[in-house]
Amino acid sequence: MDARSVERVYDRYARIYDRVFGGVFEPGRAAALGGLQLRPGDSVLEVGIGTGLCLARYPHGCRVVGIDVSHGMLQRAARQVRVRGLRNVELLRMDAQAMAFQDNSFDEVHAYELLEHLGQQGDIWSFFGTFAEIHRILRPEGRLAATVPRWDSMWAWGDPGHTRVINEGSLAFLSQEQYRLQVGKTPMADYRSVWKGDFEPTWTGFTEHNFMFTLRAVKPARL
Ligand SMILES: C[S@@+](CC[C@H](N)C(=O)[O-])C[C@H]1O[C@@H](n2cnc3c(N)ncnc32)[C@H](O)[C@@H]1O
Repeated sequence: MDARSVERVYDRYARIYDRVFGGVFEPGRAAALGGLQLRPGDSVLEVGIGTGLCLARYPHGCRVVGIDVSHGMLQRAARQVRVRGLRNVELLRMDAQAMAFQDNSFDEVHAYELLEHLGQQGDIWSFFGTFAEIHRILRPEGRLAATVPRWDSMWAWGDPGHTRVINEGSLAFLSQEQYRLQVGKTPMADYRSVWKGDFEPTWTGFTEHNFMFTLRAVKPARL
């Protein structure tokens, strides 16, 4: 789906989103977030923040920026900010695929139930483009925490709003070290002419519905 279509879908969803998805994805979000260690003063970006279901989990001493393309979802997140009296949170309407942040801006990027909506399976430009943007805005050693539908879940491809699946194999293509170890020895394809970033997986896990992972941004990349 293009950003305009996503926006229309989620603007409609906004009122009922928490009732439908609030509980279902909570174990994945909690596990992925729990694996990271934010310190006071750290900067966090949540991409595709939706209604702000994670907002209460970020320590008050951190600067939190949340972006989303859907105005309706952002309105819900703004309500959370007001109700909880969060002074450390800024919400912006912005496309995850063209983020207006400077390089090395954040210590952590969080993306829950978002990446399956970006780009198309088989389109290497969109796949690497998404991760290149996240790598660009992360500081050296910064972390990405994400949840996506499990590849073997009936919802991964069953949901007509999903445009790609990300599994453990996908993560190998983000690590320059994996290319060095595997290209020519396993069926791993060589995308090093396209992918100039570098992420190292630090943790992966599964719930009934989700694949969860954290990645560390290696900067400069081990090219
Ligand atoms: C399934 S919801 C997940 C919301 C939230 N992260 C959560 O876990 O509850 C996906 C969210 O990503 C947003 N989104 C989809 N494509 C986006 C894009 N290109 N840029 C920014 N946000 C996007 C949608 O508007 C929606 O709020």
